[in-house]
Amino acid sequence: MSPDPNASPATELSVVAPTFKERGNVAELVRRLNAALTGIAWEVIFVDDNSPDGTAAAVKEIAARDTRVRCLKRVGRRGLAGACIEGILSSAAPYVAVIDADLQHDEKVLPAMLAKLKRDADLVAATRYIAGGSAASFSEKRGAMSALATKMTHRLVGTPLSDPMSGFFMMRRDRFDEIAPRLSPAGFKILLDIVTTAGPKLRISEQPYNFGERFDGESKFNIQIGVEFLGLLLAKMTGDMIDPRFIFFAIVGSIGLVVHLAVLYAGLSLGESFRAAQIIATFVAMTSNFILNNELTYRDRRLKGNFVLLRGFVLFCLIGSVGVLANVDLASFLYGERSVWWVAGAVGAVMTVLWNYAMSTLFVWRAR
Ligand code: GDD
Ligand code: MN
Repeated sequence: MSPDPNASPATELSVVAPTFKERGNVAELVRRLNAALTGIAWEVIFVDDNSPDGTAAAVKEIAARDTRVRCLKRVGRRGLAGACIEGILSSAAPYVAVIDADLQHDEKVLPAMLAKLKRDADLVAATRYIAGGSAASFSEKRGAMSALATKMTHRLVGTPLSDPMSGFFMMRRDRFDEIAPRLSPAGFKILLDIVTTAGPKLRISEQPYNFGERFDGESKFNIQIGVEFLGLLLAKMTGDMIDPRFIFFAIVGSIGLVVHLAVLYAGLSLGESFRAAQIIATFVAMTSNFILNNELTYRDRRLKGNFVLLRGFVLFCLIGSVGVLANVDLASFLYGERSVWWVAGAVGAVMTVLWNYAMSTLFVWRAR
């Protein structure tokens, strides 16, 4: 094919900016990218999850006047990581960057990142935690959470990144395309996912920057994102063998056992009969397990509303009762066969947890 004389020059750098309710920030981001990226053939791809504030319309208004601005509008889906993945996949440029749309990431370091990438790297991660960078704009609470998550990531999964929580990076698109099918669209941790998925072959470089204040609107960070992140760490620790949801379920079950014993002890101390105290303890532990699983393990499918909650609780108790009966039968059978009391007991208990988990996932907190 001969080159078309009317074609405009190819884009060298695609900047992907995920947005959810960022209407007040898009024009300012385009202005700042324009100032920062002189001499580079760039484009910006806003990936908007159908924000109710009309962010996509605001982007398209700018895009109608400036061909360097594009809008990828997703409907019926939500999620930062997935938005970044689709934005990058829509690019044809050799280099791609991801930047938050709220102007907390300093766009002025983009040219330095591009230079590093061209020189000797496959990925350049912008970081707050090496000399020259800072996260001073974080509130005390958020800063402490970020520091804790960073420390846990280093301890538990290990990573060459000084700022594994960062969502600001640039990479060679061909390297991204190779690993894209193995990335998880859930959660906030796209950079960490890319680096752990790509493995040691990926040449990583870092670029310090100062994490700034949000320009307009508010953060979408919430507890669910924190819980999902814990789940990711746990999954990576087991080499992706064990579903993080099951780990949460087992932790909740262990807490339930402690609750059960505490209530039983209290009941006996208050002079209740063992039978009565055991019944009360069972009920309290079932209730606390149900609430914790609803808030934590199945947070993304949380049951709401009195009737729905009551129905879920009754089902959960039924499943638990069958689990206990099966456990007792299985353990007694094993005990009769081989008579090692703790092996028989432990196999019974593990079977109960597996049964409860499978049935709760299938019937109480169904995927919608
Ligand atoms: N398309 C899309 N869909 N975009 C989203 C979604 C979503 O579900 N959720 C958040 N975003 C966009 C926001 O509009 C913003 O442009 C960017 O992702 C970051 O979201 P913020 O709400 O500003 O998050 P933050 O400032 O609290 O989080 C920052 O710090 C985290 C860890 O310290 C970001 O830099 C994250 O990338 C980082 O992981
Ligand atoms: Mn932000």
